[in-house]
Amino acid sequence: MKINLYKHVIITTLLSASTCANLFAQTADGAAPVAIAKEQIAKANNLAPTPPMGWNTWNTFQTKIDEPLLKGMVDAYVSSGMRDAGYRYFVLDDGWMSMERDKNGDLVADPKKFPKGMKAFADYVHAKGLKFGIYNCAGSKTCAGYPGSRGHEYQDARLYASFGVDFLKYDWCNTDSLNAREAYITMSQALKASGRQIVFSLCEWGNHQPWLWAGGVGELYRNTGDITASFDKNKNYGSWSALSVMSILDKQVNIGKYNGPNHWNDPDMLEVGNGMSFNEDKAHFSLWCMLSAPLAAGNDLRNMSPQTQSILTNKEAIAIDQDALGIAATRIYQADSLEVWAKPLANNQLAVCFLNRSTVAKDVAYKWQEHTINNEEGKLNADFAQAVYKLHDVWTKKDIGTTKKEFKQTLAGHSVVMLRLVKF
Ligand code: GLA
Repeated sequence: MKINLYKHVIITTLLSASTCANLFAQTADGAAPVAIAKEQIAKANNLAPTPPMGWNTWNTFQTKIDEPLLKGMVDAYVSSGMRDAGYRYFVLDDGWMSMERDKNGDLVADPKKFPKGMKAFADYVHAKGLKFGIYNCAGSKTCAGYPGSRGHEYQDARLYASFGVDFLKYDWCNTDSLNAREAYITMSQALKASGRQIVFSLCEWGNHQPWLWAGGVGELYRNTGDITASFDKNKNYGSWSALSVMSILDKQVNIGKYNGPNHWNDPDMLEVGNGMSFNEDKAHFSLWCMLSAPLAAGNDLRNMSPQTQSILTNKEAIAIDQDALGIAATRIYQADSLEVWAKPLANNQLAVCFLNRSTVAKDVAYKWQEHTINNEEGKLNADFAQAVYKLHDVWTKKDIGTTKKEFKQTLAGHSVVMLRLVKF
């Protein structure tokens, strides 16, 4: 099937962090209009100037975690090259604690899973040059039924600081009528009062539009329900559905403009290496990089295939994710299962990702001169009729010509071509 991308000019509305800072919004739970306060973001500790990168237990192990397994994972984190590729956080998700608090009301690391306690495990993580993350929930119980932080926020934050925690993922189960913004602000303040610098990762699944108010409260905020290792089919579990990579991508279309340093939209963790095809995994990873998403690998690092490793440690793709501007890509073209996403990069460079969402191969014929990109902030003005860019393919790692010539390629089903564009 041949698709000719016809002539159009796209006016994008990419907003810088400073513009976001002036936005006012009504929260979904009816709270008073709030500003994404410029001062709030400025006051943040600059803990995440680029999207945090790490590994999290949940996608592969759920609550079946313990110290021997995780020590092996820490070792593999280093030996597999993940640490050298830029990943830093090692995050325990749900299931690390005992079902009851102790007599002082403190959370307790499950003594069967962590016989030496959590501080000892955190020390092991730190000794490898990594940072340590942990999980809890704003409600009375976590999603898997362990004790939640409601009513214990300051006590729990102090305990995390004593463990040496560097990152807290904070979930939204069993929260009844809690006000999301207030609950997350309480924990954010508790973390700040703990005396330790702790990255705060909000996880209320986008229910209360956190992109409008969570800048300055935390460094990253989930904006969707849970991901699953499926390219374009959600998995129905009765009361809830786990979301495919494509459904999560579609939820990013209008909110990318709120992204920026120290306040990142989080489209959930990576499923690379967890069952999708090589092309699907590459597409998933590329798109998360285009979105400036936090990159939390969720596969078993001890037995990664060379393909999985080549995706997760592709430094050229990671450099697009970690670009200093921190601007999420905009979908600038969409027709017949083909999409084009564009992301401004520092030094007047640009990343462009062609995506074939269908299962069948498609021929792309893209005349750059017919696709001027403008945006109101002046962050991305690519008039290919005026300026010529060199094209570099991030996956084949080859220069493939310039924007003077039509871009012609056949894209396999469920695949991408991701390019870095550098002005001549
Ligand atoms: C929720 C979160 C997941 C994971 C589980 C743990 O579903 O969205 O990412 O943390 O809880 O129970």
